[in-house]
Amino acid sequence: MNNTILVTGGAGFIGTNFVLQWIANTEARVVNLDLLTYAGNRRNLQSVENDPRHIFVHGNICDDALIASLLKQHQPRAILNFAAESHVDRSISGPAAFIQTNIFGAFTLLEQARVYWDSLEPEAKTAFRFLHVSTDEVYGTLQPEDPAFQETTPYAPNSPYAASKASSDMLVRAWHHTYGLPVLTTNCSNNYGPWQFPEKLIPLTILNALEGKPLPVYGDGLNVRDWLFVEDHCAAISRVLEEGRPGETYNVGGNSERRNIDVVTTICDILDELQPDSAIGTRRKLITYVKDRPGHDRRYAIDAEKISKELGWHPAQQFESGIHRTVEWFLAHRNWVDEVRSGAYHEWIEQNYAGRFAQ
Ligand code: NAD
Ligand code: TYD
Repeated sequence: MNNTILVTGGAGFIGTNFVLQWIANTEARVVNLDLLTYAGNRRNLQSVENDPRHIFVHGNICDDALIASLLKQHQPRAILNFAAESHVDRSISGPAAFIQTNIFGAFTLLEQARVYWDSLEPEAKTAFRFLHVSTDEVYGTLQPEDPAFQETTPYAPNSPYAASKASSDMLVRAWHHTYGLPVLTTNCSNNYGPWQFPEKLIPLTILNALEGKPLPVYGDGLNVRDWLFVEDHCAAISRVLEEGRPGETYNVGGNSERRNIDVVTTICDILDELQPDSAIGTRRKLITYVKDRPGHDRRYAIDAEKISKELGWHPAQQFESGIHRTVEWFLAHRNWVDEVRSGAYHEWIEQNYAGRFAQ
C-alpha cells in the first residue's frame, strides 16, 4: 500500500518539527503543502530539501483543484492538517484570514478528502485517515480551581482564533458522522521549541532578553498555560495517526502549567547563565507589564489521560529541560532568527506593542 502522507502547513513551527521527525523516523514519503505566509519558511526544511521523500508544494489549502490534483497524483494514506493562522493577537486585529484558512481551508480539505476517499479500493479506504491538528483554546478559559479540559468539556471559544479552530473541529466531526470519513482530532496545549516564530511568548521573550529589550507581560502576568515541548506534540500526532480510533478526539498536554510571569523569569535566568551580558545586567529587570489582551483567557490545562491510557503516549520533556533546550536552540540559530525577522515582522511588533507600552 502507498505509504505517502500529505501534510499541510509543514513549513510552520509545528509542521516543520513534524516533517523533520517523520523523515528521520520513517521510510515514508511526505508531500508538504504550505502557502508560505509570514509564519512559513522553506529554510526550516533545508536539511530535507534534497531528500526524495520530501516533496514541497507551494499552495493554499483553500484551493480545491490543487488539493484534488495532489491527492490524485500522490495517493496518500493520510492527510494531516497543520495549516492555520495561529496567533491570537493577530486574530484580534485581523480575523478575516483566520476565518478563511482555518474554517474554509479545513472545509476544502475535508471535501476533497471525502471525494478521494470514496474513490479508494477497500483496503486503502479502510486504512485512510484525516488527522486535524487543533488546540485546547476551543474549550475556553478555566478558573484556578477548575479541573483540566477533558475531551468531553463543552466548547466555549473566546478569541477569533479559538472560534475558527472550534469551527473547523465541528466540520471534521460532521464529515465523520455524516459521510463516515475516518477522522482524528488532536487538541493540544501551548507548544514551544525549535523553529517557533518569534511573535509567540517564549521565542519573543528569548530574543528580546538576549538583546536587552523590554519583555512585555500582558496584564498581571498570572495567566496560566500548559506548556508542551513541540517534539512531544509531534510524537503524539504520530501515535494518534497510527493507533487512534477514527471519529475520536485526543487531548494532548505537557502536564506543565506555568504562570506567564514564571515562564518569563525562567527564560531570564537561563539567559543570564548561558549568555551573561554586563551591558544588560540581570534580565529580570527588563520585565515590563503592558496592557492586557482583550478577552485574555485566564488559564488552560489539559487532562491527557485518554491518550496516555489508550495510546501509551507521555511527554518525554519536562518544562525545565524543554525550555533549556529551546533557549540553546535560539542561541545557536541566530541566522534563522535574523531571516524571519523581516520588515513585516517589525511592522507587526510595532502594531501589537506600541499601544500596549503606552498604557
Ligand atoms: P504556524 O503559524 O507556525 O504555522 C502555520 C503554517 O501554515 C505556516 O507554515 C503557514 O505558511 C501555513 N499556512 C497558513 N495558511 C495557509 C493556507 N491557507 N494554506 C496552506 N498553508 C497555510 O502554526 P503552528 O504553531 O505550527 O500551528 C500548527 C497547527 O497546530 C495549527 O493548526 C494550530 O492551530 C495548531 N496548534 C498550535 C499550537 C501552538 O502552541 N503553536 C498549540 C496547539 C495547536
Ligand atoms: P501566546 O504565545 O501568544 O500563546 P496563546 O495566546 O495561544 O496562549 O501567549 C502565551 C501567553 O503569554 C498568553 O497568556 C499571552 C501572554 N503573552 C504576553 O504576556 N506577552 C506577549 O508579548 C505575548 C506574545 C503573549
